[in-house]
Amino acid sequence: MIASPVKPLFVFVITFSLLLVIIILSPSPHFLQIPVPSSSSLGGSVIWSVKRTMEWRPCKWWLQGHLTRMHSLTTALVFCSNPAALPAQTNGYIRVDCYGGLNQMRRDLCDGVGIARLLNATLVLPKFEVAAYWNESSGFADVFDVDYFIQKMSGFINVVKELPKGIESKEPFRVDCSKRKGQFDYIESVLPSLLEHHYISFTPAMSQRRDRYPQYAKATLCQACYSALRLTSSLEKKAIELFDAIPKPFLSLHLRFEPDMVAYSQCEYQNLSPSSVSAIEAARVDRKPWTGELAQIWRKRGKCPLTPNETALMLQSLNVPTNTNIYLAAGDGLMEMEGFTSVYTNVYTKSALLNREDFTRMHGNTKAALDYHVSISSDAYVATYFGNMDKIVAAMRTYKGMHNTLFLNRKAFAELTSQGLGGAELKSALWEVHKNDFAIGRGFALPDCFCEFEL
Ligand SMILES: *[C@@H]1O[C@H](CO)[C@@H](O)[C@H](O)[C@H]1NC(C)=O
Ligand SMILES: *[C@@H]1O[C@H](CO)[C@@H](O)[C@H](O)[C@H]1NC(C)=O
Ligand SMILES: *[C@@H]1O[C@H](CO)[C@@H](O)[C@H](O)[C@H]1NC(C)=O
Repeated sequence: MIASPVKPLFVFVITFSLLLVIIILSPSPHFLQIPVPSSSSLGGSVIWSVKRTMEWRPCKWWLQGHLTRMHSLTTALVFCSNPAALPAQTNGYIRVDCYGGLNQMRRDLCDGVGIARLLNATLVLPKFEVAAYWNESSGFADVFDVDYFIQKMSGFINVVKELPKGIESKEPFRVDCSKRKGQFDYIESVLPSLLEHHYISFTPAMSQRRDRYPQYAKATLCQACYSALRLTSSLEKKAIELFDAIPKPFLSLHLRFEPDMVAYSQCEYQNLSPSSVSAIEAARVDRKPWTGELAQIWRKRGKCPLTPNETALMLQSLNVPTNTNIYLAAGDGLMEMEGFTSVYTNVYTKSALLNREDFTRMHGNTKAALDYHVSISSDAYVATYFGNMDKIVAAMRTYKGMHNTLFLNRKAFAELTSQGLGGAELKSALWEVHKNDFAIGRGFALPDCFCEFEL
């Protein structure tokens, strides 16, 4: 029985929470009015006008994390039993150590925060070890807004900027997750170290099974990944400057055809210029390209990055007009770009839009952050690959209700061209494939945090 003075407050909390959910769930009108470039030049309608049959939305149990948060403010008053309430006692302190490129670090951060919650630990600000890859010094606080992160995570997990007395000057005990083969259980393999050392650090392993987490840990992961990360104000200012300089409406294109990417893929390409060939050779190290039949099989599995030529052909098959404004969200070393820019003539790059001094002073991570920001705000996003950036951008766009997102289907392209299709026949076959991908929202959101809705 709830005591009567408390009742109005309880009703208020419930009503307010429901309102909050309705606000969160209803797509904001801003995101509905995505201008679609007209496609008069090619006759067919542009891919974005295809009717979608499926849509990904943030899962209920994640949004209920918000509700839980509202409740937890008043738990003491209303005594509602709340299974996801933060445990009164912490099992210790965890620092998540992130390595690699910006989007890889971000992916590891998401996982790490989920694991910390799973272990009922308190989170110390993550370490972004950027020097290893980008040769620069920026850590988490240089890329993301720390106070915003802490505020957004409240109710999901406790985050501290400073360690408590007694362990404040200690380096964390490092738990190595990478050596463990196959699936493993964090409670079984990491919790004992946490309890013993009180302060540990780790880099999440790829092989973990998130689907086995209790829902409160999953909700924490989702919240960290999609709701709690905002660029620092100085980075955001730069990103807005860049965004403002791009003519609207525009499509953001993530093209991957850099020497290291091509070398890593172990794919063979014909007709490359001598300078591209030597750049790829230099990046190869010991990864020799597949040849003969193996090369065919590899390609048909969709393992080969699309060339700028192929990308232009794919976009044309989607009836994206050749006069569309295109922002190139990509690294500096793209090869064979004439194959693209000779077809799509309104292409904009960071190096052209930012002032020279800014551009040369900027680090790889900063540039990646700008590309990310522009790509989650553009009218459309097309990726030629399915890498960390593409996954995060697509999911963020989905989170924001922006559905003009597409991954070019390399596998279908390889399959169709190996059947000898070309010209109009190839284009119409590619249209069919992508029309279906787009209609069902293939790859638009990570299934961990998003649930499918039939439209
Ligand atoms: C974390 O706390 C919850 C209760 O809040 C409990 O059910 C769970 O077993 C705890 N897990 C660990 C690893 O301590
Ligand atoms: C990385 O930084 C160090 C020190 O600032 C510098 O000496 C080195 O040349 C840099 N390496 C690269 C690959 O830029
Ligand atoms: C791209 O297309 C042009 C014109 O068809 C061709 O000359 C060139 O060799 C192609 N480049 C690649 C890398 O396929």
